[in-house]
Amino acid sequence: MNSICFGIQKGGVGKTSVSCTVAYFASKKLKTCIIDADPQGNASAWHLTKEPEFELANILNKKATVEEALIEIRDNLYMIPTFGFTGALSLFAETVLVNKIYCFSDILKELESLNFDLVIFDLRPSMALLEKRIISSCQEIISPLTPAYFSADGLEIIENELQKIMTDYRINIRHRKLVLNMVNLSFKSHQIYLKTFEKIDRDVFHIPQDICISKSQDLHLPLYEYDPRARSVPKFQELTKAIIGG
Ligand SMILES: Nc1ncnc2c1ncn2[C@@H]1O[C@H](COP(=O)(O)OP(=O)(O)OP(=O)(O)O)[C@@H](O)[C@H]1O
Ligand SMILES: [Mg+2]
Repeated sequence: MNSICFGIQKGGVGKTSVSCTVAYFASKKLKTCIIDADPQGNASAWHLTKEPEFELANILNKKATVEEALIEIRDNLYMIPTFGFTGALSLFAETVLVNKIYCFSDILKELESLNFDLVIFDLRPSMALLEKRIISSCQEIISPLTPAYFSADGLEIIENELQKIMTDYRINIRHRKLVLNMVNLSFKSHQIYLKTFEKIDRDVFHIPQDICISKSQDLHLPLYEYDPRARSVPKFQELTKAIIGG
C-alpha cells in the first residue's frame, strides 16, 4: 500500500484540490482512501453532501474504528472525513497527539488490512506536530506551489523541515515531485517561475488555472464529474499516472 501526503505550510496553493483530484483518478485503478487531515474539513465539505456519523478525530480518540469512519464516496474511492465545525482534530492535535507517536501508522496498517492500495492525506497549511506525525507515517510527500514570489521560500522551508523529520524519526520520505498549480502560461512571470522550478532537481508538474476546479467544489462534485473536458483534467491525469505508475 502506498501512502502519500500533500503538504506545505503555505495556504491556498491547492493541496486540497490537487490531492482529491489525484485520488479520484487513482481510484480508477487502485482502491483509494482520502484522509481529510485538515481541521478546516475542506476535502470533506467538497465531497460529502450529508454529515457522516464519524470523523478522523473519532478514530484517533478510539471512539470509532477505521471501518466505521470510512465513507465510500465513489466506486473504489473512500474518505475518512473531518468536520470543520467540531474542532475535534485540532483539539486532539493540541492535547493527546504528543503522546501518540504511531497513531497515523496504526490507521495506515488498518487500511492496508482492508485491502487499500493507496492512501492520500490532505494536510492543513502548517508544519506543526500534526503534520509531522502524518508526514513521518507516509512514504511520500508532494508539495503544491503557486507561481508566486514566495514559493521558493516556501519550498526551502519544507525541505528543511523534512530533513529534520527524517533525522528525528530515522526514516526516509520521498519528496521528488513538485506541483506548480494555478499556472497561466500567457503570463510571462508564470513562464519564468515554471522554468525556474524545472531547473531544480525535482520532477515538476504543472496544473493550469482552471475555474472548473472551484465550480466543482461549489457543486460537491469531483472535477472530472463536473466537467470531463475541463482544461486541467489532462494535467491531473498525467500527474496521477506519474504518482501511481502504469
Ligand atoms: N488550478 C487552479 N486553478 C484555479 N483555481 C484553483 C486551482 N487550484 C485550486 N484552485 C482554487 O484555489 C482555492 C484554494 O485551493 P485549495 O483549497 O485546494 O488550496 P489549499 O492549499 O488546500 O488551501 P488551504 O491551505 O486552506 O488548505 C480554491 O478556491 C480552489 O478552488
Ligand atoms: Mg486545503
